[in-house]
Amino acid sequence: MARVIFENVYKSFSHRSHSESRSTLDKHSQGVGDKPSSFQKHQNNSVTVLRNINLEVKDGEFMVLVGPYGCGKSTLLRLLGGLENLSGGNIYIGDRIVNQIPPKARDIAMVFQNYALYPHLNVYDNIAFGLRRSDSVSRTDSQKVQDSKKNSTSNLLESALGGITRSLPRKFRYLSSKEKAIRKQVRYVASLLQIESLLYRLPKELSGGQKQRVALGRAIARNPQVFLMDEPLSNLDAKLRTETRAQIVQLQKQLGITTIYVTHDQTEAMTMGDRIAVMKGGEIQQIASPLEIYNQPANRFVAEFIGSPPMNFLPVELIDQRSEQRESAVLGVSPMSNFRKKAPSFDGGACSDSLTLIHPDFRITLPASWREILQNQRHNKFLLGIRPQYFFVSAESSDISLKVNLVEALGSETYIRGTLFNDANRSITASLPPDTRVALGESINLSINLGKIHLFDADSQIRLS
Ligand SMILES: Nc1ncnc2c1ncn2[C@@H]1O[C@H](COP(=O)(O)OP(=O)(O)O)[C@@H](O)[C@H]1O
Ligand SMILES: [Mg+2]
Repeated sequence: MARVIFENVYKSFSHRSHSESRSTLDKHSQGVGDKPSSFQKHQNNSVTVLRNINLEVKDGEFMVLVGPYGCGKSTLLRLLGGLENLSGGNIYIGDRIVNQIPPKARDIAMVFQNYALYPHLNVYDNIAFGLRRSDSVSRTDSQKVQDSKKNSTSNLLESALGGITRSLPRKFRYLSSKEKAIRKQVRYVASLLQIESLLYRLPKELSGGQKQRVALGRAIARNPQVFLMDEPLSNLDAKLRTETRAQIVQLQKQLGITTIYVTHDQTEAMTMGDRIAVMKGGEIQQIASPLEIYNQPANRFVAEFIGSPPMNFLPVELIDQRSEQRESAVLGVSPMSNFRKKAPSFDGGACSDSLTLIHPDFRITLPASWREILQNQRHNKFLLGIRPQYFFVSAESSDISLKVNLVEALGSETYIRGTLFNDANRSITASLPPDTRVALGESINLSINLGKIHLFDADSQIRLS
């Protein structure tokens, strides 16, 4: 077990030919720790797919990398696994810089989406494969020293006996001491994953879920310092995915092995990770615990990517009545009057120093706590972010009216999508109680839980906090 650190990591791919790409990368990797001078396209037609990646995964932590297809998740994992060369920066496993260390010597195990089992080997041998090739079959250091002192004659004898008896039925075969240790480890892993009954089947005789467990077993058996998993559940059906998700989390907690798990699925990220790193376009957007990411997203991208259905965004303008009153006292005009004509007023009796968000379809008076957050803002254009869960139907008043064009009754809740009346191109999704009665084409009046709204800077898209 070990912590993993990505320090200012960059990765570029050349888009010429594969062999050229390798040599370009090797050249790049000499300047380890340096930052490439330009990000996007380089003169030699290479494209930077990872930039400025700084991430520390703690010892024993379950870290999820999540982001849309093509954002560089697999590339980052492959860099850690040693399957790609760095273009810049450093990677540490434990206290060791592994930039130049070959994959085999990094003491990590990878699980991929496509299982990658050896088709001609049964489950037992698939799990044992990596153990037979390494000398780390959960032996203690003193055992290793003893082993190395053994004279080579006995090793030769053992392997000869093993070879001669290999074609005999299983119980007559000779097992070397290494093979006995392997058998113990394979059985231990098989019991962890509840695949004892499958040990002598070939991969073609297994279901997708069983194959996935064998692939996991092969990784676990090696007892690595770090697990790397790249979308390992993508080929499973929805029910099995949910089950296996829980099993992987449980196993990881049991084994305590530092794990980096790649997915494009925000539900997997939310449910599996101790922490999540959200990626977009080769850059990390935010690293935090699942609930922190959900409740305090760093920017619009994170807010939209995490959470289902996604957050709604509406362009709004802020009117600060306190400063408006000051200005109108000086100029002798009322700047609010323009908006009053267009937008219905739902702020019923807002006090004179209120902060109001204005949209052609609604106006909302912000809770007083926003004044401190908004006081240093230079412009007054923002994006209002509201999660579908924070709309509700109230008999007394409402903030916003929708023309309903989609009703999805899931049983546990009902998703309603509709358009605004003035800003008719904008769709809003609300998640409402399952007994909500509304039909297509009707309008519905919704209130907003004002304690749960977010504001994002209209230009930078960073969340105000
Ligand atoms: N060997 C390669 N050569 C050139 N471009 C690559 C190579 N591998 C990945 N890329 C590009 O790098 C970007 C990130 O890919 P990848 O890490 O696979 O994304 P993800 O796993 O997030 O879907 C993509 O634009 C992809 O086309
Ligand atoms: Mg990928």
